[in-house]
Amino acid sequence: MPSLLPKTPQFFQLHHIEDQALATEAAAGLLAASAWASPKFFYDALGSRLFDAITELAEYYPTRTEAGIFTAHGAEIGAAALKLTGTAPALVDLGAGNCAKAARLFGWLQPRRYVAVDISVDFLRHSLHGLQREHPQVDMVGVGLDFSTQLRLPPDVLAGQPALVFYPGSSIGNFAPDDALRLLRQAREAAAGGALLIGVDLLKPPALLQAAYDDDLGVTAAFNLNLLKHLNRLLGANFDLRQWQHVAVFNAAQSRVEMHLQARLATTVRWPGAERSFAAGERVHTENSYKWTTEGFAALLRDAGFGSLQHWTDPQRWFGVFLAAG
Ligand code: AVI
Repeated sequence: MPSLLPKTPQFFQLHHIEDQALATEAAAGLLAASAWASPKFFYDALGSRLFDAITELAEYYPTRTEAGIFTAHGAEIGAAALKLTGTAPALVDLGAGNCAKAARLFGWLQPRRYVAVDISVDFLRHSLHGLQREHPQVDMVGVGLDFSTQLRLPPDVLAGQPALVFYPGSSIGNFAPDDALRLLRQAREAAAGGALLIGVDLLKPPALLQAAYDDDLGVTAAFNLNLLKHLNRLLGANFDLRQWQHVAVFNAAQSRVEMHLQARLATTVRWPGAERSFAAGERVHTENSYKWTTEGFAALLRDAGFGSLQHWTDPQRWFGVFLAAG
């Protein structure tokens, strides 16, 4: 007899964020000959809000362009995905956050199970409980996992059934090509014979890229500089934000937008047990955002073992949504 009890989401926290390990990583980056800081240090509470603000800027086209592709082609994309996964697939959402992008797919996919993956299950609890109320028939699972290091889901979560792995927003662009390939191979394993649906920002004229990462209002500059506040807290460091400047450059040879923080004047930053002097103009490299051609990304998917590739773009061909069989 079917259970009359309403379903409630299940949660697994597989990854534990340790401040000490993060501080060691941050210090190693700052002390490197060419200083760098991982983009994960952008996303403290304020940084996550600043990123949401970026997605609303006129200059930052990726979010609205990807959404436009789903508005124009969602039914077709959903039908093509179901051909690869079979009806009522499990939907695995990488970097789910507020789960809003995946929720838009529910009508087309009618998933049997929704697996939301993010670095912390605490980010997912509120959104998953809300979504469960709207879709009482779907099994909902939240998984706290840093899949940028390794994407391995708890064995029972998919029970070996084919899944549609969804990775929107061109977050894949924040991985260097070798790391992107490793992650895509793991996504293929997670799909267990199903498919991958992934959003990718495409190469376009440098002036458009430059503006998207250095907007007039200075929201991206605040997002970048906020990383130094995060490092001050994490390390007990004394970065003075007024001495640093946001720099975004398009590196054509690497096909990526780079973000850096550049010292306006010679300065020494101190934290317990260490210090680092920066000459005027010296930089801390904080992010790469790779821009792919459709051909280049299709080749990467094939290298990762995917086949039956299809993709959809916007009329300006600024952004691509790729569907690939696992
Ligand atoms: C999260 N990621 C896809 C964004 C990007 O476009 O690379 C992060 C970002 N950095 C500056 N603006 C947005």
